[in-house]
Amino acid sequence: LWQLIPGPKSQPPMVWHWIPFLGSAPSYGRDPIGFFRECREKYGNCFTFILLGKRVTVTLGTHGNDYVLGGKHTQLAAEDVYSHLTTPIFGKDVVYDCPNEKLMEQKKFVKVSLTIDKFRSYVGMIEDEVKDYLNSDTSFRAYQMDDINEWGAFPVLKTFAEVTILTASRTLQGREIRERLTKDYAQVYSDLDHGFTPLHWMIPGLPLPSYRKRDAAHLKMSNFYQSLIRARRSLAEHEREDDVMNSLMQQKYRDGTPLPDHEIAHILIALLMAGQHTSSSSLAWTMLHLADRQDLQDALYKEQVAYFGTPDGGLRDVRYEDIRELKVLDAVVRETLRVHPPIHSIMRKAHVDIPVPATLAAPSEDVRFVVPKGDIVLASPIVSQLDPAVWEDSDTWEPLRWYDEKGVAAQAHKQYNEGEQVDFGFGLVSKGTVSPYLPFGAGRHRCIGEQFAYLQISTVIIALIRRLEFRIEGEFPKADYASMMVQPMPSQIMYRRRKFD
Ligand code: HEM
Repeated sequence: LWQLIPGPKSQPPMVWHWIPFLGSAPSYGRDPIGFFRECREKYGNCFTFILLGKRVTVTLGTHGNDYVLGGKHTQLAAEDVYSHLTTPIFGKDVVYDCPNEKLMEQKKFVKVSLTIDKFRSYVGMIEDEVKDYLNSDTSFRAYQMDDINEWGAFPVLKTFAEVTILTASRTLQGREIRERLTKDYAQVYSDLDHGFTPLHWMIPGLPLPSYRKRDAAHLKMSNFYQSLIRARRSLAEHEREDDVMNSLMQQKYRDGTPLPDHEIAHILIALLMAGQHTSSSSLAWTMLHLADRQDLQDALYKEQVAYFGTPDGGLRDVRYEDIRELKVLDAVVRETLRVHPPIHSIMRKAHVDIPVPATLAAPSEDVRFVVPKGDIVLASPIVSQLDPAVWEDSDTWEPLRWYDEKGVAAQAHKQYNEGEQVDFGFGLVSKGTVSPYLPFGAGRHRCIGEQFAYLQISTVIIALIRRLEFRIEGEFPKADYASMMVQPMPSQIMYRRRKFD
């Protein structure tokens, strides 16, 4: 009944709930997007809900995204919300277990090691990994036989989780780590990964086996990486592999201190984890949609023939520069990240009372909402990525929306990537924090893996579409919100060898 008593006029409306401590946890946990959309209808773009005793204020729409992602770090801090989840996994002194200024420097160190030259060399490595996988994994028996009429099936989540870790290890993590990606290492990785769940985020430090295994796995992985770094240090400069680890070994913080081994190890672990679920779930959704849309599979294959076709009827190797020109492929990946961005909630903690701008929510001329100090503030860019006021037929996966026959929108997108303001048909959009399309976030915590992820996802799709045809049977899988990232429910894709492979 206390909820019927109006709260302070300046506080955003509170979402109605029956059980005080639990609050809206069941609705949010079951289907966060549906929950946000329903609340938006009832309360507008700014409202507060209770999540296991915590107050969470949600700000939706483009201005809501801007409010959270463009917020000042002194007012809205990410580390207060995430560190108890990520520190036991990534380790000490990196990412959210250090002052934000240090994280910014660490992000810069990684960025400078992700150069175009490196990307050029990654394309062949990723393609080789996919080829090896198709030739060795038992789910691809039907491919390994020569009969083109034989259909087989592969499990979507397992396959793309494995392809993602194999390709990321081979490229970002370096040769030594890829070579040691044995069953033993896979188990350590899996134990670490099982610590990345909503339960571990909401209740840190429970005496459960998954918590103990996570901690043991972190220790093992951290020691393993540090032993590799020590071995590297004993090599002469010219003998060292030119990879992210090596690049981190040469960087220095602004005060002149080099990165200690444990920080290099923990940054590498963080990169592995940050890219794993995001890329594997994007690959899974993309391939499911393609399996469901024969016309787009055909368009992608035709694009490859047009681009890479050789006089003898084969397809030449792919180069980094080519990938940027493939507009059907670009639209397919872009559209998957619009409809299925892996991260549905981006959160910060308010360190002070922060007024909500009138563009986002102003209940009346003389009252402006204020988010009280201590609230978790949450943006959900997926809500604007699926907003019917912005996108035509917003919930439908339709890559054609990103280009037309003349490639007009594709051109607009190129300008957008270069940081210009562009009209996609829903008004001018800039690359900053006020945008209806933010799968990689924005502002100081923006993703540094975007280009790598595009390269990885695109190259895997190219390698698959060249060799196989796909279809799905039965219903298209729904989204599963049970883990920290949105992924499809367990499902399988049918495939057969392409005629001219
Ligand atoms: C941050 C999405 C792949 C490393 C972010 C954020 C988003 C995001 C939305 C912002 C989080 C926030 O503001 O709290 C994605 C998607 C990916 C992807 C959709 C793939 C499809 C990767 C990869 C890497 C990576 C491959 C590593 C190579 C990072 C890092 C941050 C970040 C280091 C910064 C965290 C911070 O500053 O707080 N990513 N990411 N991501 N991502 Fe990614």
